[in-house]
Amino acid sequence: MRRFIPVAEPVLGEAEVRAVAECVRSGWISPLSSSVREFEERFAAYCGVSEAVAVSSGTAGLHLVLVALGLGYGDEVIIPDMTFVATANAVAYTGARVVTADVDPRTWNITPETVARVLTRRTKAVIPVHLFGNPADVEGIKRLVGRKVVVIEDAAESHGAVFRGRKTGALGTAGVFSFYANKLITTGEGGMITCRSRGLGRRLRFLLDQAMDPNRRYYHPEIGFNYRLTGMQAALGIAQMRRIKSLLSAKHRIAKWYQEFLKDKRGLEFQQQQSGAESSWWMVSILLPKGVDRRRIEQKLKRCGIETRPFFHPISSLPMFSKNPERPVARQLFTRGLTLPSGAKLSRKDVQWICHALRKELV
Ligand SMILES: Cc1ncc(COP(=O)(O)O)c(C=O)c1O
Repeated sequence: MRRFIPVAEPVLGEAEVRAVAECVRSGWISPLSSSVREFEERFAAYCGVSEAVAVSSGTAGLHLVLVALGLGYGDEVIIPDMTFVATANAVAYTGARVVTADVDPRTWNITPETVARVLTRRTKAVIPVHLFGNPADVEGIKRLVGRKVVVIEDAAESHGAVFRGRKTGALGTAGVFSFYANKLITTGEGGMITCRSRGLGRRLRFLLDQAMDPNRRYYHPEIGFNYRLTGMQAALGIAQMRRIKSLLSAKHRIAKWYQEFLKDKRGLEFQQQQSGAESSWWMVSILLPKGVDRRRIEQKLKRCGIETRPFFHPISSLPMFSKNPERPVARQLFTRGLTLPSGAKLSRKDVQWICHALRKELV
């Protein structure tokens, strides 16, 4: 009998067990632990930025950046229509209006052209999402919107992805990563904000810790948040950082295998990288041939022990964001899109078996 193949699974070993155990033994489990600083420094160096601020989740990170940059009521923030709901929710928490832009049918990301269609005088920020690890054209979007509009990368899914020689998270005013258990590296829950401005880094650290005045303990001049990462999570994160290169190589290998085993399947499409972009291939996703019932394929694969994932419901189709008109490309992606098992432990044989099972259903 074949084993159950999940869509994603964390890679955790003795090194992680030791790191967390040592943290617990030391008693430094709170956010004051030196492991939090160490994790931040290692992550900043990895991304090629001067500042990395650890937070309790990617969602918290997105919210905190928007607050730190002064976004609020009356402002509009452009996000892709095809993204996880967290991108939109973080904007909504601030009181700003969520405006969705359609995505490109090949890269599945927003582009300067799709952003231009919804840009107004009230636009104060754009949040490109590097969907499934595929870098969006942050440079092009920055050029389009000019200096008055901030561009924040939602890099929750794109650890290690590169655009024209620079890592995602180092392309915009700030970048936000997630360390949820299905991400390339994980701390269970957790996140990291990256940026190059010391001032912004300081402001983020102030806000995430209940906005306590650094020179007057328990004096809080503003409303702050508790968005801190714990010492235990950071210890786990440091251990995961030691694996990041090999995890990334595994993802690249898996994507290549899928492309090899499915390349001649007519009508089936892979996510494409634009020139200069190197995806991290966090999740290998496909568009099924037009007219194929995605739910039927999901069910059939499930019966073979293969877990898959549908794409996100377009943001404009969710009740709280439905003032946005339907975006046709996002809608198409949702109808045809399927994420295949992409865990770093998959072998070539596993991928071959998944593709065999999929091809059988597509004849
Ligand atoms: C595109 C995107 N943005 C934001 C988030 C939110 O991250 P978290 O789950 O750590 O809050 C996720 C999480 O999966 C995501 O995929």
